Amino acid sequence: MKGNAKVLKALNTLLTEELSAINQYMVHSEMCADWGFEKLHEAIEKQAVDEMHHAEWLIRRVLFLEGHPNVYKLNPIKVGKTVPEMIALGGGAEHDAVKQYNGAIALCAREEDSGSKQLLEKILADEERHVDWAESQQELIRQMGLQNYLERQA
Ligand SMILES: [Fe+2]
Ligand SMILES: [Fe+2]
Repeated sequence: MKGNAKVLKALNTLLTEELSAINQYMVHSEMCADWGFEKLHEAIEKQAVDEMHHAEWLIRRVLFLEGHPNVYKLNPIKVGKTVPEMIALGGGAEHDAVKQYNGAIALCAREEDSGSKQLLEKILADEERHVDWAESQQELIRQMGLQNYLERQA
């Protein structure tokens, strides 16, 4: 089915975002494993897998709309040097993702592509959950102190 050019462009922009997020989370998750923070490693790895599913769904949709999935591009990837930095960088990227998905959902509505809109709404729910996870970790660190928080991640 031939897709709308503006929607296809937006889907590819989101795909770049997802591919970049996968790489950021893989590095963060492996750094946590290397430091012995096994629980954080698992939590961040799970998010990387979520982003991989998002990338798959976007690729599937672009192909369905007879477009070309752009898997050749990544955004600049910011790697944190400490756990709080990682959480802040991940949370910031998720916050941007929520904004981008909301923008793309509005575009799909204007261009009358409900199929793409539904997919993006499903992904948006995951991104909101990711923002919430980062905010919860920041709150835990604030309330129990970084030392106690990190002890629980070992
Ligand atoms: Fe995602
Ligand atoms: Fe996410």
